[in-house]
Amino acid sequence: MASASDLGIVKERLAAARSITILTGAGISADSGVPTFRGTDGLWKNFRAEDLATPEAFERDPRLVWEWYSWRRELIATKQPNDAHKAIAELERSCPDFWLITQNVDGLHREAGSRKLSEIHGNIWTVRCTACGMIANNRDVPIAILPSCARCGSLLRPHIVWFGESLFTDDLDCCSRALTRCDVLLVIGTSGIVYPAAGFTSVAKEAGAFVAEINLDPTPQSVLVDISLHGHAKDLVPLLLKPI
Ligand code: OAD
Ligand code: ZN
Repeated sequence: MASASDLGIVKERLAAARSITILTGAGISADSGVPTFRGTDGLWKNFRAEDLATPEAFERDPRLVWEWYSWRRELIATKQPNDAHKAIAELERSCPDFWLITQNVDGLHREAGSRKLSEIHGNIWTVRCTACGMIANNRDVPIAILPSCARCGSLLRPHIVWFGESLFTDDLDCCSRALTRCDVLLVIGTSGIVYPAAGFTSVAKEAGAFVAEINLDPTPQSVLVDISLHGHAKDLVPLLLKPI
């Protein structure tokens, strides 16, 4: 449980901050009903994300990978942003120096109204052509398996950063700027084990930020942060971000 005094300390730091950065992971969307990757409901047909979200898996069996994404698209299409997503979108409007970094591909931050954000792993509603590279929005639910490019007819893939692939350069630049200039970093609902995001806490700490973690459970990052608040993102985030 998050103690009232820890909550108070983080609230005060946020109120005094000139620049705020937030990093989110699957835990923030768990409260909207989207399964996390490493929780008990995170498996699909006994595959882990690491088995499917790779270029090798797509090359070997694009149908299987698309079936997984199609299942996730159908599930996410029924979900709404929760109070934590909404509180973050509201903070963006009141804090002039703000940046949101999310590992989530579900698009729920955008749906809640966030615009100053880097979706560092991409967005499940975006596709990319494996031949000509064209990037397009695609909200089809269900999506055709295997979908083809409107321009050249070749196979499309999800426009998502898979294991073994590098983040998009623009996103990396935005993230490192936001992490090194913020006074406060909030790390919400991430297991903190997938790089490069797992290294973001240290980057912000080394640059002098106060870092608070919001998670149901302790994580490998807990020893690095200034305060860990344990509880549901949908309860704690609105409490923290409400003006004092
Ligand atoms: P994980 O599934 O690894 O971790 C989710 C974290 O959220 C865990 O630490 C949970 O304890 C916490 N959590 C669960 N429910 C919560 C709640 N209601 N409130 C607060 N915290 C809660 O998800 P990520 O850390 O986001 O990459 O995973 C990182 C990346 O690994 C993902 O972006 C994805 C995955 O493979 C790709 O798909 C490329
Ligand atoms: Zn094409």
